[in-house]
Amino acid sequence: MEGACHVFDRSLHLFNSVFPARRTILIKDVHGRIIVILAGRPNDPSWDTCIQDAVLAMKTLAEKIVEPTEFFRRGAFPSIAAGISYGGGQTEPCNLGTTELVRSLLEHPSFIRMANFANSVFARYAPKLYQYYCSTLDLLFNQMPHLRRPFPGSIFTAASFNFGPQTVTYCHVDQANVPFGLCAIAALGDFDPEKGGHVYLWELGLVIEFPSGSIIKLPSGSVHHGNTPIRPHEFRCSFTTYCAGGLFRWVAYGFRTAAAFARRDPVGKRRFNASLSTRWRECLNLFSKASELTNNVRAVFGL
Ligand SMILES: [Fe+2]
Repeated sequence: MEGACHVFDRSLHLFNSVFPARRTILIKDVHGRIIVILAGRPNDPSWDTCIQDAVLAMKTLAEKIVEPTEFFRRGAFPSIAAGISYGGGQTEPCNLGTTELVRSLLEHPSFIRMANFANSVFARYAPKLYQYYCSTLDLLFNQMPHLRRPFPGSIFTAASFNFGPQTVTYCHVDQANVPFGLCAIAALGDFDPEKGGHVYLWELGLVIEFPSGSIIKLPSGSVHHGNTPIRPHEFRCSFTTYCAGGLFRWVAYGFRTAAAFARRDPVGKRRFNASLSTRWRECLNLFSKASELTNNVRAVFGL
């Protein structure tokens, strides 16, 4: 099945020319559902160059950041987000402003490749969830065609570039992300992964070596996570792709805020609220069990 990691999404015509992962480790819950994917890296020697180029780009551009958009929220490092924003009092989703600096990262072949690889891993190991993202976001983009994904080859609607020199996140949950979703994190830099930069998943009781160039997919909106420190002379940055949960709610509310939904359709809003008592079960069922993965991939993508 590793060799099938190429084209998954047909409805959105997302094509990912990635290589199968060299070695993927799946972390499952007690029911066998795949909830964390240690995707590692594609089985391709050119990946090292891809990562070196990405690190160099981050180092170079970090010097140009005058006012970090996000500093100390998840850790002591500047971070810049790109893609679609919705939350924090916004009345509707909108595209984040794209500066020349951000554009250079969005058009950089290394970041495009990482985003595409993360997308394929998502489709490969969480096909039902991936399909749910596709169908929901199809509705969003049909309704608001001016919205733009940061990377056309990836399902995710947002990306963050976390500049160094020491990107070490505090223990946190990304509450604005889809709570039942899987975000992708790519570790980048020059550090010894045996000495530091591990990713830990607090509720799961796991501390995982996370070398530069590796990608992990985790439920960042539900599981506390963070990094162990790296040594003072080392450099670490990271790249993440994800979706805001607010976008999914915006669609579920009929392309409006919760307040507008309640005001214009109070009966519908009450019915929606009542459905939330069983919603968590439906969301859990979007994760594939390892034993059902082959059938799920076949059912979703016809492969
Ligand atoms: Fe996070």
